[in-house]
Amino acid sequence: MKTLLVIDSSARSNRSTTRALTHRFAEAWKGRFGDSAVIHRDLGANPPPAIDDAWIASAFGPPNGETPAALSRSETFISELFQADVIVIGAPMYNFGMPAALKAYFDQIVRVGRTFDFAEDPENPYKPLIPAKPVVVVTSKGSGEYEAGGMLESLNFLEPHLATILGFIGLGNIAYAKVAREEYKDELWQQMVREAETTVDRLAADLAIS
Ligand SMILES: Cc1cc2nc3c(=O)[nH]c(=O)nc-3n(C[C@H](O)[C@H](O)[C@H](O)COP(=O)(O)O)c2cc1C
Repeated sequence: MKTLLVIDSSARSNRSTTRALTHRFAEAWKGRFGDSAVIHRDLGANPPPAIDDAWIASAFGPPNGETPAALSRSETFISELFQADVIVIGAPMYNFGMPAALKAYFDQIVRVGRTFDFAEDPENPYKPLIPAKPVVVVTSKGSGEYEAGGMLESLNFLEPHLATILGFIGLGNIAYAKVAREEYKDELWQQMVREAETTVDRLAADLAIS
């Protein structure tokens, strides 16, 4: 059995393009490996709290062998990342970047000594601590023109920010399924949805056997 971790961050429970696509992936996975092969972390329904003083003091304090209470949520999230063989992230664009709930999640899981560490090499001062594994990032945007050469390219902080954080902790093997123009719901949008569905189906099949 291969374990899939699905992370949803759309605040919409219905009518969500990213949820429809991550759900499609999860259903294909369950069809192959069974329901227990999928862990669902729903950040849209249950946004993690912002990290606070106690969290930072614990995360950067000397380890004493026990997990401080302030880090228990972080530990749960991190163990899911280690347990997963494949990770699927649903990430809508909110105000040109990722939803606050997803950023709060990353603040919880990017931790020195757990998901990254400092390295001696001055050329490369950080080393990731999560073993490499495939990540599928599903994005949806209201407008178009965010791709390379598009009118809004310079305003797209979604995929670049996600790729930077994921790569930093060892999850740089990323495939994308992207939809844009969701607010138009026109022919072009429908075509993008169909292409994203095809991409999801292909990735779910390929990653189940690789
Ligand atoms: C709070 C909020 C902020 C948004 N900001 C942007 C934006 O900056 N640029 C954009 O193109 N679309 C923006 N949108 C549109 C969403 O990206 C689009 O509706 C997307 O499909 C949402 O993902 P979902 O369908 O999975 O919920 C925003 C939507 C919401 C609800």
